[in-house]
Amino acid sequence: MADKKVILTGDRPTGKLHIGHYVGSLKNRVQLQNSGEYDTNIMIADMQALTDNARDPEKIRNSLLQVALDYLAVGIDPEKSTILVQSQIDALNELTMHYLNIVSVNRLMRNPTVKTEIQQKKFGESVPAGFLIYPVSQAADITAFKADTVPVGEDQEPMLEQTREIVRSINGIYGKDVLVEPEGYFPPKGMGRIPGLDGNAKMSKSLNNCIYLSDDEDTIQKKVMSMYTDPNHIHVEDPGKVEGNTVFTYLDIFAEDKAKVADLKAQYEHGGLGDVKIKRYLNEVLQAELAPIRERRMEFEKDPQGVYDILKAGSEKASKVANQTLDEVRDAIGINYFK
Ligand code: TRP
Repeated sequence: MADKKVILTGDRPTGKLHIGHYVGSLKNRVQLQNSGEYDTNIMIADMQALTDNARDPEKIRNSLLQVALDYLAVGIDPEKSTILVQSQIDALNELTMHYLNIVSVNRLMRNPTVKTEIQQKKFGESVPAGFLIYPVSQAADITAFKADTVPVGEDQEPMLEQTREIVRSINGIYGKDVLVEPEGYFPPKGMGRIPGLDGNAKMSKSLNNCIYLSDDEDTIQKKVMSMYTDPNHIHVEDPGKVEGNTVFTYLDIFAEDKAKVADLKAQYEHGGLGDVKIKRYLNEVLQAELAPIRERRMEFEKDPQGVYDILKAGSEKASKVANQTLDEVRDAIGINYFK
C-alpha cells in the first residue's frame, strides 16, 4: 500500500454521464483501478459544479446520484476505489483558502481552461468569484490526497500546471515538502475524444448530441440511426467518405473486429454500401457494449440508499486523509497554535 501511486480524479455532477465520458475517462479509470497499482480516489466535484449553478442546487443534488450510478455501472468498484463527495470534505475548503493567498488574480484570469469556459458560459461581467478560483480548489482536491497521478482529458492540463505551481510555492515558502506535484495521465492521442451524434467535435449535453450510459435499447438505436455520416452520400451506389463520418469514427473506437471495419470502409468508399447498413452494425456493437453497463446501473438504481452509503463511506475515508494533509500544511505555516 505504502508505495502505491495515488490517483485523484473526478467529474462535476451536472447531469448523467455519456459515452464521451466513458471513452475519454471512465474506461481508463476502471483499467487503472483494476491494475491494482494505484490507490484510486474518484471525486464527485459538487462544490465545483455549484460555482456556476448556485441558483440551481437541485440540479447538482440530483446529478450526484446519477453520476454515482454511472460510476458503479461502468465498474468503479467501491471495494477497490474510494468514491468521495467534494462538499463533504471540509479540509478542502481550508486548503483552498491557504492556496488562494499565494495565487494572483491575474494568474487565475490567464488559466486557458477557465478563460474558454467563461466565454462559453456567457457570464459577461458577472463571473462568479468562486468560478474564477475553481482551479485553486481543484489544486486542493489533488494535493489533499497527495495524488501523483491525475487521469483527465487534455483540457485539464492547465489545471495541473496551476496545481504544480501552487505545490512549488507552498513547499518553497514554508520550507517543507508537504505537498506532492501531480502528473497528468492522458488517454492516448486521438483516443480520448468522441464526436457528437451530429458530427460536432464534442459530445455535450448542451448540444443535445449524446448517447447516455443510461439510455435504453430503443433510444440508442434511434440515436444511431439519426447519426451524421457523409452528407454527399445520397444513393447507395455513390462512393462515400469515411473521414469525418461519425459512424466510422465510432466504429473505430468501439468495434473489436478491425478487419470487418476496414472492409466496410473500403466498400463504402467504393460505393454500394448504404448508411443504414453501417448504422445497423454500429448499433449492434454499441448495444453489446452498453447493455451490461445499463443492467448494472438498473440494479444499483433500485437501492439509492445503498449508493449514498457507498458515497458516505468513501467521503469519511477521504476526510481522514485530507485532514492529515491539512494538519501538515498548518504545521508548515505555523498556525497550529494550540497543539
Ligand atoms: N475539473 C473537473 C471537471 O470539470 C472535475 C474535478 C474537480 C477534478 N476536481 C478534480 C478532476 C481533481 C481531476 C482532479 O470535470
